[in-house]
Amino acid sequence: MRVVRVPLGERAYSIRIGEGLLSGLGQDCERLGLGRHCTIISDSNVAPLYARRAAQSLERAGFEPREITIPAGETAKCLARVSDCYHELARHRAGRDSFIVALGGGVVGDLAGFVAATYLRGLALVQVPTTLLAQVDSSVGGKVGVNLKAGKNLVGAFHQPRLVVCDLATLETLPPRELRAGFAEVIKYGIIADARLFRRLERDLDPLLRRDGGALAAVVARCCAIKAAVVGHDETEQGRRAVLNFGHTVGHALEAVFGYGKYLHGEAIAVGQVFAARLSARLLGLPEGDVDRIRSLFERAGLPTSVCLSPHQRENVSRAMRLDKKTSAGEIRFVLAERIGQVVWGRAVAASVIREVFDLLLRKPSGGG
Ligand SMILES: NC(=O)c1ccc[n+]([C@@H]2O[C@H](COP(=O)([O-])OP(=O)(O)OC[C@H]3O[C@@H](n4cnc5c(N)ncnc54)[C@H](O)[C@@H]3O)[C@@H](O)[C@H]2O)c1
Ligand SMILES: [Zn+2]
Repeated sequence: MRVVRVPLGERAYSIRIGEGLLSGLGQDCERLGLGRHCTIISDSNVAPLYARRAAQSLERAGFEPREITIPAGETAKCLARVSDCYHELARHRAGRDSFIVALGGGVVGDLAGFVAATYLRGLALVQVPTTLLAQVDSSVGGKVGVNLKAGKNLVGAFHQPRLVVCDLATLETLPPRELRAGFAEVIKYGIIADARLFRRLERDLDPLLRRDGGALAAVVARCCAIKAAVVGHDETEQGRRAVLNFGHTVGHALEAVFGYGKYLHGEAIAVGQVFAARLSARLLGLPEGDVDRIRSLFERAGLPTSVCLSPHQRENVSRAMRLDKKTSAGEIRFVLAERIGQVVWGRAVAASVIREVFDLLLRKPSGGG
């Protein structure tokens, strides 16, 4: 088992990474000195697979777990489902000393985390992420929240978990497309912070896609360590935490324009990262060879690196980029790479340059879709 610490003073916590950790969840929670009552929040795909095992482990350690199951999918990450959870917690008479276990992907983690941040002004939270994306990204760092019709993640809070348990064995049941989407965030960590990780991914991508336990453990731990360090320096995104948004300006815009469904988040940010790499070549002299390495790694992972947009959609993507909450004063700011492993953030980019680089990314509808 590997352990990564998130260095946040008295709110510091551990991320435990290994195969089969779900059956030790109860013992891990015991060490935190939490109250006996807890509620496992999961979704309709994950609960039938893993909720029983989580509950039994908690029971063996003397806890009294309840379960709440929300529908699977991004549309459940909304205030209506948050409200359902509040009512369930009230019905179960959950008190200030009870805690929430978020068992699932990023949707469950964000929603259950938001419930934990707000119910009774805050309950302790344990994250048990079951997607690759959630293990390397969303379960770590304390951002929790839900979507509004007007946009993703518009309502939220910072609420750090007390513990994160990444059981790599849960990835075995993850649909292949979801696994590949998780690799978009994994590759991102290589680009923003660690050229060695990037080279390791180039070398080990095939065993990783086959879910080889040893290869996954090393990579998930490295990604968590990078995120932990970034969050430790800048918990509430006053500056440096923005590097985690590499590729996300275009990615979020694609998600918004196509509606949540056509592109998974990981797929949208794969396109966005190739865009950001090209922009980096143009503005910061990122070598063309590195742009090619980045594009080809996403391709090998089975992720899209270009998009097909009608003129109307293209206009909408530009508008969505300007509306992204990461923009300030009407300027679109980007995280750009100087080289693989090193990025700068907050770079304002002129609309004309964005248009030019966008042209390189577009596939013509006749070009095979
Ligand atoms: N808080 C953050 O810092 C942060 C960071 C990145 C992303 N996010 C959020 O994360 C969400 C995306 O997370 P995601 O990609 O994990 O999606 P998800 O939670 O929707 O999970 C993807 C699908 O896989 C299913 N699933 C999950 N684990 C499974 C398993 N082990 N076996 C079989 N099926 C399983 C889910 O039911 C769902 O259908 C988005 O809402 C995004 O905004 C948050
Ligand atoms: Zn992301």
